[in-house]
Amino acid sequence: MSETAKAPVDVFEKARSHDRLEQLEAAKEHDLLPYFRLLTSQAGPVVEMEGRETIMLGSNNYLGLTGDERVKAGAREALETYGTGVTGSRLLNGTTPLHLELERELAEWMETEDAIVFTTGYQANAGALGTILGPGDTVICDSGDHASILDGCRLAGAKLRPFRHNRMEKLEKMLGRAAEDGGGVLVVVDGVFSMEGDVCDLPRIVELCQAYGARLMLDEAHGAGVLGARGAGAAELFGLEDAVDLRMGTFSKSLASCGGFVAGPADVVEYLRISSRAFIFSASAVPAAVGAALAALRVIRSEGPELFARLLANAEYLREGLRDLGLRVVEPGTLPDGSVATTPVVPVVVGDDWQAVLLWKALFEAGIYTNVAIHPAVPPGGALLRTSLMATHDREHLDGALGTIARVIADFPDLPRA
Ligand SMILES: Cc1ncc(COP(=O)(O)O)c(C=O)c1O
Repeated sequence: MSETAKAPVDVFEKARSHDRLEQLEAAKEHDLLPYFRLLTSQAGPVVEMEGRETIMLGSNNYLGLTGDERVKAGAREALETYGTGVTGSRLLNGTTPLHLELERELAEWMETEDAIVFTTGYQANAGALGTILGPGDTVICDSGDHASILDGCRLAGAKLRPFRHNRMEKLEKMLGRAAEDGGGVLVVVDGVFSMEGDVCDLPRIVELCQAYGARLMLDEAHGAGVLGARGAGAAELFGLEDAVDLRMGTFSKSLASCGGFVAGPADVVEYLRISSRAFIFSASAVPAAVGAALAALRVIRSEGPELFARLLANAEYLREGLRDLGLRVVEPGTLPDGSVATTPVVPVVVGDDWQAVLLWKALFEAGIYTNVAIHPAVPPGGALLRTSLMATHDREHLDGALGTIARVIADFPDLPRA
């Protein structure tokens, strides 16, 4: 280094002085951190966490299939047949017959021409968007879209035009602006929003995309395995499968494993297979994960309706129970026929971040695990306690949880009320 050159800034400096450090340290000091808590049992409706029996109201294991003997057998058989890992990309030495079977069955389930399996759901979004879009294109996203969607758009270098959550007049405005950007236009929305648990207004989104000639991609992470007669997701629920160009899903929720997929036209899926860097330059999922997802998919395709009905009845039961306690629950939205669009996610509005953390801790100590959603996962002042249901919760679990919640919230007089 020459004598006049300044020493470079230490890139590690942000680790020592980022804006959340103080909050993080304070939360750790008082054992209030709602993250990284230890799960020491299987992910059922009742779990053991940090040595205590806990009712699980914060899992995405919507159908409870992580404990299903057929799904575990699928994982075990894959492990015995192919070993613990494939140690290579799908492009090279990482494709087994299980991957191909899973892709074929996913495409059948989604009723699309083809499907491609990624190692995680995050990679499915980032890998698809980062490949399909380019710097000359415009992508329009709902502000509630999952981080993996935004990261995929950034990776592509596409022009990002976000619109306020579920505000269709804002979407239309963005479509109008995008038409003048001069490139291709893609709208990407979550079918079911992960934090709020509401469904997107798919009929209006489809109408607008068609009017403006935009392509549409739907993230079915929380809708697949839950909504629609086949459980194919929000697109099926609304009867609009043919109007959605590309559908993404994960295995880390109803499919009881880990991984993700993109389903759509054969030429687009094949293009992803040979061009998506998240697909090509990352090792293929471990065989046990693929075997479990395939077995879970088969359970869903054979006996899904009974599981979906149980899950959604549980969600309705908890939602009504929380409302009866006077809590403010995020409204689930309605379907075109006027019925309530119930999903497995039932968030309670708390507002203030610290109050949400304190409530979370009080519930955790009382034997209930929930997810706390604070800024930046939600807008400032919009903290939520996100509860989510499983088909394997029974009424005893839910009544027990409601009784505990009633006792705990007595110490929180400032909670927003319905
Ligand atoms: C809406 C949505 N999309 C994508 C993902 C990413 O999926 P995975 O966690 O399986 O990588 C998630 C997971 O939280 C999600 O909620």
